[in-house]
Amino acid sequence: MSIHKEVRKVTTHRLSEMKLRGEKISMLTSYDYSMAQLVDEAGVDVILVGDSASNVMAGNQTTLPITLDQMIYHGKSVVRAVDRALVVVDLPFGTYQGNSMEALSSAIRIMKETAADSVKLEGGEEVIGSVKRILSAGIPVMGHLGLMPQSIHKFGTYTVRAKEEAEAEKLLNDARLLEEAGCFAIVLEKIPAELGKMVAEKLRIPVIGIGAGGGVDGQVLVIHDLLGITQQFSPRFLRRYHNLAAEIKGAVGNYINDVKSMDFPNEKEQY
Ligand code: KIV
Repeated sequence: MSIHKEVRKVTTHRLSEMKLRGEKISMLTSYDYSMAQLVDEAGVDVILVGDSASNVMAGNQTTLPITLDQMIYHGKSVVRAVDRALVVVDLPFGTYQGNSMEALSSAIRIMKETAADSVKLEGGEEVIGSVKRILSAGIPVMGHLGLMPQSIHKFGTYTVRAKEEAEAEKLLNDARLLEEAGCFAIVLEKIPAELGKMVAEKLRIPVIGIGAGGGVDGQVLVIHDLLGITQQFSPRFLRRYHNLAAEIKGAVGNYINDVKSMDFPNEKEQY
């Protein structure tokens, strides 16, 4: 007898229905099987295998070093765990900006090798050729505007973006281009709340914010930040729901003490 789990998978179509009826979309990152399983079972709508894995999992200063092979490894691990959420995998730096054929082959590798539902990439007008080429192969694309960590060396800081009118106008224009090209959603990172709200109102596709205020169609956070595993990173937009760093260190400390004092293992914990 086979046991079927009764889950209704989240699709890009369901996300646009959520926007239409005003239901906010919840999105979180995951990079490995065990965390993705917990996040999916908790009922999040979208799981992002973000290139923030470069910082969070590998300890790099920026997202630039992570490779396509490494993103595929993380993507595969997450997809194996997920029954319900829509899984989005980031195209890493250097795999889509050069030319649209390279972008297409990077996106195809992600889709074939991870079995994810879609890809995400950073940028507007500059990468629109790549966006269109990927979409032409039937691969759903999520855009990413505002603070774009892959361009950190161009801007030099991780401060709030699009505060000036010209940058805000460019952002709105880029968002429109991405929508017209056929992206199913856009992430807006670290921009004024008023601008986030305006973009969400002007676009038909869902706009998901991280530090973009409450007027957008959904929110995304890095799971390690939300759980309080990462300790140094404290931007204003971050709400920590737990202090897991303290709990983990406490548990590990207890284990060390038990080993040293020979309390562990006891008679019941051996063969
Ligand atoms: O890589 C990532 O985690 C992201 C989110 C911050 C949106 O792109």
